[in-house]
Amino acid sequence: MIQVAVLGYGTVGSGVVEVIEKNKEEINKKSGEQLNIKYILDLRDFPGDPYEDKVVHDVDQILNDPEIKIICETMGGLKPAYDFTRRALLAGKSVCTSNKELVAVHGPELIRVAHDNKCNYLFEASVGGGIPIIRPLNYSLTAEKIDAITGILNGTTNYILSKMEKEGADFEEVLKEAQEKGYAERNPEADVEGYDACRKIAILSSLMTGKNVKYDDIYTEGITRITSTDFIYAHAMGKTIKLLAQSKEVDDNFYAMVAPFMISKSHPLYMVNDVFNAVCVHGNMLGDSMYYGKGAGKLPTASAVVSDVVDCARHIGKVIMCFWDDEDVALTGIEEAKRSFFVRVSSDRERKAIDVFESLRVIEADVPGEFAFVTDVMSEKEFNKKAEEVGIISRIRIEE
Ligand code: HSE
Repeated sequence: MIQVAVLGYGTVGSGVVEVIEKNKEEINKKSGEQLNIKYILDLRDFPGDPYEDKVVHDVDQILNDPEIKIICETMGGLKPAYDFTRRALLAGKSVCTSNKELVAVHGPELIRVAHDNKCNYLFEASVGGGIPIIRPLNYSLTAEKIDAITGILNGTTNYILSKMEKEGADFEEVLKEAQEKGYAERNPEADVEGYDACRKIAILSSLMTGKNVKYDDIYTEGITRITSTDFIYAHAMGKTIKLLAQSKEVDDNFYAMVAPFMISKSHPLYMVNDVFNAVCVHGNMLGDSMYYGKGAGKLPTASAVVSDVVDCARHIGKVIMCFWDDEDVALTGIEEAKRSFFVRVSSDRERKAIDVFESLRVIEADVPGEFAFVTDVMSEKEFNKKAEEVGIISRIRIEE
């Protein structure tokens, strides 16, 4: 029997317990041994909960118990999760986590500590909720040189944008609903300002390069400035608006960014709606592959944590290879990245916009008092200069 502990009995932690209990037979068979949850660490008590007798308040009880071989860290945040994780790994206990913040900041160090101590630090649930994406990058696409990853990596913002699109609703209104449904983080800023997606693309980019992509080096723009009027234009253009997280290697330059983009109906991510996430991975031999599923929520995320528990159970005392070194990747600034832009200006700037942008495609959408257009392909730097000269209302990048 393999003894397991869960740190944090919140949404994901209680989901982990539920998944292990509900799918006991499957999971034990696939693990090759029976798994048993011995402890649940939380500050709170849970009177009446079927697992109340497993709840403990002192992490040392878990860390000092030689029977515990696998720990699920579902606390979130850096403190005290970093300290607990590091101590667990130093004690040779494998850790499976959904904590993208911790993985994005301390991933390479914790992987190294795990390997030095013949155990594993696995983080399938940290990106894309229930979608298998870490495992494909680590184990399935090993014959590939991966040169681009583009994803919808945040369920809350995708839910908000999908609702805004379908219902013509405004951002604030839909955000409230997303919070009520429990999709948004405690602090919605992390979702709506793109920080959550940024951490996730930092993790994927690190696995893509095998080196460390620091999340605070990644250009990040959220969806708070997207309005229902932008969707009126998007409809007129046969497009929609999605928060994309992408990283690309072009001629030895490595770009990564998170921002809202307009994408057309033919784009593989166009149909990814509501709380769903999807990740497109481009490999130099395979070409495109896409991974799709529920990117947030209790059971999908818990399912991914438990898939890591099974992997750890199959590899007790053995290291599962993961290529993510400490060496930082120098990102190329996005100023040189080239694309076209959708732009809105007030009607009195129409003449100036035509003069400055020279060649543009006008978008008719009957929005009073405005002139809207799509630019030619140009660098961000060039666009910003022209936009400043004209004085624009807003712009959205276009992904072809
Ligand atoms: N708040 C996150 C999201 C949860 O909406 O995607 C999953 O990481």
